[in-house]
Amino acid sequence: MKNSKSIKLDQKHIWHPFTQHKISPIPIKIVSGKMTKLKDDKGKTYIDLISSWWVNTHGHCHPFIAKAIYKQSKKLEQVIFGGFTHEPAIELAKRISNILPRDLKKVFFSDNGSTAVEVALKIAYQYWFNQNKKKKTFIAFKNAYHGDTIGAMSLGSGSDLFSVFKDLFFNIKLFDYPSTWEGDTKIEEKESLILKKIENEFKKNNDIAGLIIEPLIQGSGGMNICRNIFMQKLSKIVKKYNNLLIYDEVMTGFGRTGEIFACKKIKTKPDIICLSKGLTGGFLPLSLTITTKKIYNNFLGNNFDKALAHGHSFTANPLGCAASIASLDLFKSKKIFKKIKDIEKKNKIFSKKISKLDSIEKIRTCGTVLAFNVKGFGDGYKAKIPEKIKNFFLNKGLLLRPLGNVLYIMPPYCILNRELNYAYKIIYEGLKKI
Ligand SMILES: Cc1ncc(COP(=O)(O)O)c(C=O)c1O
Repeated sequence: MKNSKSIKLDQKHIWHPFTQHKISPIPIKIVSGKMTKLKDDKGKTYIDLISSWWVNTHGHCHPFIAKAIYKQSKKLEQVIFGGFTHEPAIELAKRISNILPRDLKKVFFSDNGSTAVEVALKIAYQYWFNQNKKKKTFIAFKNAYHGDTIGAMSLGSGSDLFSVFKDLFFNIKLFDYPSTWEGDTKIEEKESLILKKIENEFKKNNDIAGLIIEPLIQGSGGMNICRNIFMQKLSKIVKKYNNLLIYDEVMTGFGRTGEIFACKKIKTKPDIICLSKGLTGGFLPLSLTITTKKIYNNFLGNNFDKALAHGHSFTANPLGCAASIASLDLFKSKKIFKKIKDIEKKNKIFSKKISKLDSIEKIRTCGTVLAFNVKGFGDGYKAKIPEKIKNFFLNKGLLLRPLGNVLYIMPPYCILNRELNYAYKIIYEGLKKI
């Protein structure tokens, strides 16, 4: 189909996500992807510096994953998962539990990050309910993003993104996320104040069903980074009060923080963990909510009453499972973690260079993520880096998608040194223009 005709049809029929169609630029039509690169319908290529909403850990169209999906599609493409099971799901569940902290053994499948979080919330709520305890408040963090279904949005009520829906939200107690950056001298003070407030909440509030956090990096809230030590102290508090610690590793999972999972990096053991995004290497929608046996045992009984009432048509889709297994195979190579460490090292060197620029502040890095705030355009979701600056990067062939006033990179691990160096050069040029 001709370019102009096809874009007209897009505009006529498609409602894009998180888009104000009246003022948004016409979308760029992408026709192919190969490793770090995306190609549009005019032949222009872009380096995908955000791994396409943080999913493409191994780059686009990785032949090993593509082959695994094709092979599986000839054997079994889909089967009802209630009362039936299949090898790719069994294999994936086994492999995932083997690389997570030891107690996380029971794997529940769903389709995306938001549903992984919904499942975690329902499990936490029902865990208490099945013990004849009613607890319906969750502790979450300001600027958290756990997805856009109603439960997940409730957890994200500390940002202004979902304010339209606030009458639908359930009880959340929000606390500050102790974001830190290079040169932050107040971090210890911030952390201890937050921890004290959280501990007080546990002491006085008997209604807490669980605490949910994006460990080490808050993604959509602005790539806010916290320290290992905060996560360790937080975990101790939750355990001290015998409550449930839920890690939303939808974004931080699969190498983003430098280790396969953030919980491994910080050496803490959540009671429930949510995984998605990089799970299938970015090929197919799939997610997992994994819990301890102790939690799972509370759902056992002689009738359905105590069972978890949740499940989707495509639960544990065999193609998604096959893609995930192939992606895990790729993670077995030491080369990937070496590359992740290289990206981290290079990001740190670049962050020193840009620290001299007046146009930016709060430079931070964790694993393959580098982020900073661009000054002068406000804060939060309503802040906006002007289109002119975004277009500068696009014209130079960089796919970046700022979050409010936060510019960040989170590339696929296969990014070449020359691509990364080019990206740094263009970002530096762009920042000097502000
Ligand atoms: C930490 C976190 N949790 C949950 C979600 C929701 O995932 P999805 O967009 O797949 O529903 C996201 C998405 O950005 C996320 O970053």
